[in-house]
Amino acid sequence: MPHQVDDSSTDAELARHFAASASTSLPRAPLYAALSAGISRDPGLFGLLRYAPPTQRLPVLLFACVHDLLLEDPHQELAQWYANLTPTARLATDRALMPTFKRFVAAHEQALRHLLSTRTTQTNEVGRCALFLPAFGLLADEVGPLGHLDVGASGGLNLLLDRYEYHFESPDGDVTTVGGPSSVTLHAATTGPVPVPASMPVIATRCGIDQHPIDVTDVSEAHWLEACVWPDQPDRFHRLVAAIEIARAAPPELLAGDAVTSLAPAIERIGANAHPVVTNSWVLNYLTSNDRVAYLAELDRIGAQRDLSWVYAEAPALIPELPNGPDPVDPHRTVLSMARWRDGERTVAHLATCHPHGFWMHWR
Ligand SMILES: C[S@@+](CC[C@H](N)C(=O)[O-])C[C@H]1O[C@@H](n2cnc3c(N)ncnc32)[C@H](O)[C@@H]1O
Repeated sequence: MPHQVDDSSTDAELARHFAASASTSLPRAPLYAALSAGISRDPGLFGLLRYAPPTQRLPVLLFACVHDLLLEDPHQELAQWYANLTPTARLATDRALMPTFKRFVAAHEQALRHLLSTRTTQTNEVGRCALFLPAFGLLADEVGPLGHLDVGASGGLNLLLDRYEYHFESPDGDVTTVGGPSSVTLHAATTGPVPVPASMPVIATRCGIDQHPIDVTDVSEAHWLEACVWPDQPDRFHRLVAAIEIARAAPPELLAGDAVTSLAPAIERIGANAHPVVTNSWVLNYLTSNDRVAYLAELDRIGAQRDLSWVYAEAPALIPELPNGPDPVDPHRTVLSMARWRDGERTVAHLATCHPHGFWMHWR
């Protein structure tokens, strides 16, 4: 029941989560690192997580709830520390941060309890389109118009891959632009022979599956997606806001469903005029090992009957079931791979090692 506190987590456990977040958030998120350190010493603050279901009691949930309220009212004093809300953000080391945070929490406790008890963190990282685009270019050259199915699509923003502008920068500083002009520009530093497409691949149909699809045309759902981005990364935040604007004008179709059981019916909807391309990015780590095996088996079963391509950006260290194993250089990296079924035969290629948000890629 919402707003009901359950004290199955001890103070020590909750404090430990925030103390760990204080170190893991550095160096990329100094604001959340400083808040985590302060909260870890304050039972009145870390105890708020008891309003969340036990599996959701993570610092990022509390931070997303606070951020959500600030997005509703960016004139709050606390917003002065949020680099995405003010161009002259105060430093995380400013001693006024914790007292201001506490005052904000006290003034918004009812709203925070409600958010903590009803929300789960959710992301949609459009930067990953820069990883998919070269693979889509290769496929479009081979098979023509594509039917894109994104599994674990969240708000469906990566289904709008052809509406964004891309800048691929080589190590000597040459920049190749694809697509645009667009309010969403994605910049990826590259090494290796990235097959940057000469023009935008044609995407004839697009559809997403997610167990909890986000309807970005709903203002509060869109705000929640924005609230889950770290304020210390204003570039990610602003490109997400811009992508949501594009999606709201023409939202891609999203089906509520499960990766394994909804896969075949969703592929069937792609007509004979488009080649089905299934994508997934940072999704398979949410599936059980059995479900991952079943997902791969479904792809194999469908690929035995119809030409099919699968482009995926996942962390093989977390997903041992992937067909081509871990990155031989760094198994913890995000790896971009492509499997193709042609006339029933499957081939798998490891394409690139990547930044998880698409800021760089090392092409094989
Ligand atoms: C970390 S988000 C990644 C979203 C998107 N792929 C991206 O790269 O921005 C993981 C998504 O997978 C979805 N998801 C997790 N398990 C799923 C399942 N069994 N079936 C469908 N979607 C699932 C979640 O709801 C969430 O939207």
